[in-house]
Amino acid sequence: MPKVTFIDAAGSSRVINIPAGWSLMEGAVQNDVTGIAAECGGGCACATCHVFVAPEWIGKLPEKSPAENDLLECTAVSRTPASRLSCQIPMSDALDGLVVHLPERQT
Ligand code: FES
Repeated sequence: MPKVTFIDAAGSSRVINIPAGWSLMEGAVQNDVTGIAAECGGGCACATCHVFVAPEWIGKLPEKSPAENDLLECTAVSRTPASRLSCQIPMSDALDGLVVHLPERQT
């Protein structure tokens, strides 16, 4: 099962196992990761599941859809080239070891 490290804005980290096939957001929510609000439940409609992907992982993720790219303009903390919406990242064994940083706030 892929392991993901979530690092909050204060620098604290948690490592969580997320089943392949779940979204990164679902894994965070099911494990009570603080800092992922996911208000729309994964519908790519709220931008409150924003994460910053560690540089070494950016190119290993599936491409953003146009809808995700548009919604990233609506994040509470401004997007960067590392920004993704975690509900749009399907977990797979290829993402074992993924590292993401959480923004200071989601709303
Ligand atoms: S959970 Fe709403 S956009 Fe990801």
